[in-house]
Amino acid sequence: MEKKFNRTLVTAALPYANGGVHIGHLAGVYVPADIYVRYLRLKGEDVLYICGSDEHGVPVTIRARKEGCTPQEVVDRYNRIIKDSFEEFGISFDVFGRTTSETHRKTASDFFRKLYDKGEFVEQESEQYYDEEAKTFLADRYITGECPHCHAEGAYGDQCEKCGTALSPEELINPKSTVSGSVPVMKKTKHWYLPLDKHQQWLEPWITKDHTEWRSNVMGQCKSWFDMGLKPRAVSRDLDWGIPVPVEGADGKVLYVWFDAPIGYISNTKDLRPDDWELWWKSPDTRLVHFIGKDNIVFHCIVFPAMLKAEGSYILPDNVPANEFLNLEDDKISTSRGWAVWLHEYLKELPGKQDVLRYVLTANAPETKDNNFTWKDFQARNNNELVAVYGNFVNRALQLTKKYYDGIVPACGELNDTDRATIDEFKNVKADAEPWKVIKTDPERVKTIINLSLQLVANLAIAFEPFLPFSSAKLKEMLAVEGLSWASLGATDLLPAGHKIGEPALLFEKIEDSVVEAQVAKLQQCKKEMAEAAYKAEPVKSDIAFSDFEKLDIRVGTVLSCERVPKMKKLLKFEIADGLENRTIVSGIAMHYEPEALVGKQVCFIANLPPREFKGGLVSQGMILSAVNCDGTLSVITPERKVAAGSSVC
Ligand code: 2FM
Ligand code: ZN
Repeated sequence: MEKKFNRTLVTAALPYANGGVHIGHLAGVYVPADIYVRYLRLKGEDVLYICGSDEHGVPVTIRARKEGCTPQEVVDRYNRIIKDSFEEFGISFDVFGRTTSETHRKTASDFFRKLYDKGEFVEQESEQYYDEEAKTFLADRYITGECPHCHAEGAYGDQCEKCGTALSPEELINPKSTVSGSVPVMKKTKHWYLPLDKHQQWLEPWITKDHTEWRSNVMGQCKSWFDMGLKPRAVSRDLDWGIPVPVEGADGKVLYVWFDAPIGYISNTKDLRPDDWELWWKSPDTRLVHFIGKDNIVFHCIVFPAMLKAEGSYILPDNVPANEFLNLEDDKISTSRGWAVWLHEYLKELPGKQDVLRYVLTANAPETKDNNFTWKDFQARNNNELVAVYGNFVNRALQLTKKYYDGIVPACGELNDTDRATIDEFKNVKADAEPWKVIKTDPERVKTIINLSLQLVANLAIAFEPFLPFSSAKLKEMLAVEGLSWASLGATDLLPAGHKIGEPALLFEKIEDSVVEAQVAKLQQCKKEMAEAAYKAEPVKSDIAFSDFEKLDIRVGTVLSCERVPKMKKLLKFEIADGLENRTIVSGIAMHYEPEALVGKQVCFIANLPPREFKGGLVSQGMILSAVNCDGTLSVITPERKVAAGSSVC
């Protein structure tokens, strides 16, 4: 039998407050949850939408260390940025809290203590890396060393970024603490573990039998965890940033960030509804739904439910819709590689276009597989769908109302079959429209067409509200109506005859090629800059004798002419003024320069190499020097000030 719920508590994964939010976050979690919540609200249901920032954990401390500030300063800054971005995109949280709030500290601490007192944890000692100089245990990310698989230097204790292998810190060759630079030692430490192995006996049937309706990607991940057999998970860490473990003798230990973060859903609800939060979390007629990305599945389907069950007084989630990932221009979104579209930047560069992004991310939502966002597709969906279909229909209906009837909704005459079919199907009014032609032969009929078109426009304002809230608000203003509930959807009298509409304006605007091209160029540029900043130079070659260096005759020449070499796509042929008799040099930089751009420039070249013959009898008398960037692009070396052609380089 279908369960009867009287209210719905929707949570969206708490974003880490160590960076901004990008389109991947929006597409995977916050827009889908927002659509769901707005839809429920329109239906008049009792619903709360809970979110906030996840402010503990090692990444925050790493960022603080890098920026030379405190972890609190880092999370204060990003909490603001994230909150503002969500607000600007119309993500309609009822509360956006923080896991550094006092309410949260107390809630998470009490939660731990209750489980501890009930004997729900197992205490276990293990050996972990310890930095004797800095007097601190080291989180996996704070240890680097040589990767045991690909032997790259600088692999982290949890992963080698070069070959992508997941690691544990003990596997690193020559481990080093990034805190002090010293060699860490193994030291015993005690932690508290949630015995998930014991919980498997109820978790497995609860998910695989009682919740067969959960998405297949969610079910698939859960089953594979069950098949491997759940293991106890540590819920504490040795770290100086987090909520202290509320137990005697636990100095220097904090709650593991994944223990305290989901409790943030509870504490944020408490802050919002101090008087009846328990109704939302403990009453069986509340439907609890967690919206998350696929990397959070195990925490929301297995760990958090086990925590709630162990506590004993909470309800469990009814559903955990998890989305796959969104790629960007055919590449994985990566904040460290500069491959992301940040929400706060999007709005600065495309002001007022919140709904366009919401639309594109919804139409192309990564529900069942990873999807790809491209700026070309963004432009096409805006121009061909929002502008040409939706916006165009709305604009015609409103403009014609103004033109023929002075902005007053005309009375609807008798409906014909097509009108009825249109209303029934609620889609294509075009079949019977073109009122600008009909007006010449049958002006009475046009009143009906316009009336119906306006009713459809009003219906669209309701139906699209969960998806495109800004456009629906604008549309209601243009129609001069307020309210319009989900229940009235389908009605053909939303705008009574005689109602005066407001001023028509364009609902969407065309996006030009130059706008999206600039976005792609910005992405490429950002990726390039990040790669340059992270570039690790090749080890230096073995020493040479100074006398060997002196044998090289490097000079500056002025480019007199430069042209491509037919049938040799990499080569450019230069005529170089060298202060003697001029010379021809052939250089393999045609993929990096337009020849005309080099004429008149000064370049450095090796003057005393033996002549080299290319196909077709072309002879090069020297070699032009270039710098090779980390992405492989070549830049010719040119003197910082103009010098006489033939000057030597020393
Ligand atoms: O993956 C993340 O971004 C986490 N900060 C999500 C936490 S969700 C919840 F448990 F708070
Ligand atoms: Zn590796």
